[in-house]
Amino acid sequence: MKTVMVDMRDGIDKEGMRLAGEILRNGGLVAFPTETVYGLGANALDERASARIYGAKGRPSDNPLIVHIADWEDIYKIAVDIPGEAKLLADRFWPGPLTMVLKKSDLVPLTTTGGLATVAVRMPDHETARALIRAGGGYVAAPSANTSGRPSPTKAQHVAEDMDGVIDMIIDGGDVAIGLESTIVDLTEGIPTILRPGYINQEMLEEAVGRVEMDRALISEDSSVRPKAPGMKYRHYAPRAELIIVEGEEHCVRDQINRLVAEAESAGKKAGVIGTEESLLCYRSGLVKSIGSRADEITIAQHLYGILREFDELDVDVIYSESFETPHMGQAIMNRLIKAAGHQIMEVQTPEACSDGSADTGKLR
Ligand code: TXA
Ligand code: MG
Repeated sequence: MKTVMVDMRDGIDKEGMRLAGEILRNGGLVAFPTETVYGLGANALDERASARIYGAKGRPSDNPLIVHIADWEDIYKIAVDIPGEAKLLADRFWPGPLTMVLKKSDLVPLTTTGGLATVAVRMPDHETARALIRAGGGYVAAPSANTSGRPSPTKAQHVAEDMDGVIDMIIDGGDVAIGLESTIVDLTEGIPTILRPGYINQEMLEEAVGRVEMDRALISEDSSVRPKAPGMKYRHYAPRAELIIVEGEEHCVRDQINRLVAEAESAGKKAGVIGTEESLLCYRSGLVKSIGSRADEITIAQHLYGILREFDELDVDVIYSESFETPHMGQAIMNRLIKAAGHQIMEVQTPEACSDGSADTGKLR
């Protein structure tokens, strides 16, 4: 299949949008920008169309899709028993990076919801995305537009790497604004529960609706606790290289990463480092990349997936990353990074241990 790339970086191209809408209404697949990551869209109410998404991504069929809408009223067709919290959250955060899980109506096919009786709904904060949703009939099922298991795409080029020749169209809207997928909140079981952390954090949600809980699987040290969002159980976002997060006091982390890179290189391995603008010059060896600035944490979110893809291209054997427990998005950033690392975290012990320069001060958690 030939994949058409349409440039809408400077705004909506009318003819391109007409064609994109036609593709969606005929059951085809169109990748498009949102404020979080690029989505791979299909008509959510067409069973065959949404089934094609699973095929294109190589996605397990029990992993449900998010249905994207452009206007609040449209929610009544796909969800039932909508609780008051949904309207409160929509008033405050839609359009925006928030997905709500609600009871589904009979119109939503089970292929779209991975067999569940609930449906995840989101209204993206992106003009082009909303124009596409309207052009395509109002209901667009869209997971992130990557091959299953690869980092989510934050630019059209990433989508092309994974989906060229597999889908009908890619709309290029330039780099995304946030870089991590939306916050998912479940409204079907009493107290609203966060199933996936994102830009909209617990505190912001609580300001709007009162008490909000975190899915136990997100906070439990015990990785056998089953997450409520089926997609959260997969080892997502995985780079090809081994990835190890080094945690502890900043200067200890840098010392430890320098030691680890030296060891890896003397064992003949190609090593990468994920540092920040602030730490870049502290690293002596290895392929060092800055993910962004600790002084501006959104830059860290924006570049996380891109940097993992860049390291894939460079064919490194092992990547050592600093940890990013930043105040606003730290939970979302670390949730994705820890998954990419397959839970490999090394804690650097105490400042005393780190400054004595002994070779083995960190241990894997
Ligand atoms: O920011 C985003 O949400 C992006 C853009 C494209 O909108 N989309 C996205 O979709 O991240 P995806 O498919 O990569 O992730 C959807 C997540 C999965 O973890 C899935 O299991 C969960 O949402 N999910 C979908 N429907 C659900 C439901 N009914 N109940 C619980 N979890 C659900
Ligand atoms: Mg995804």
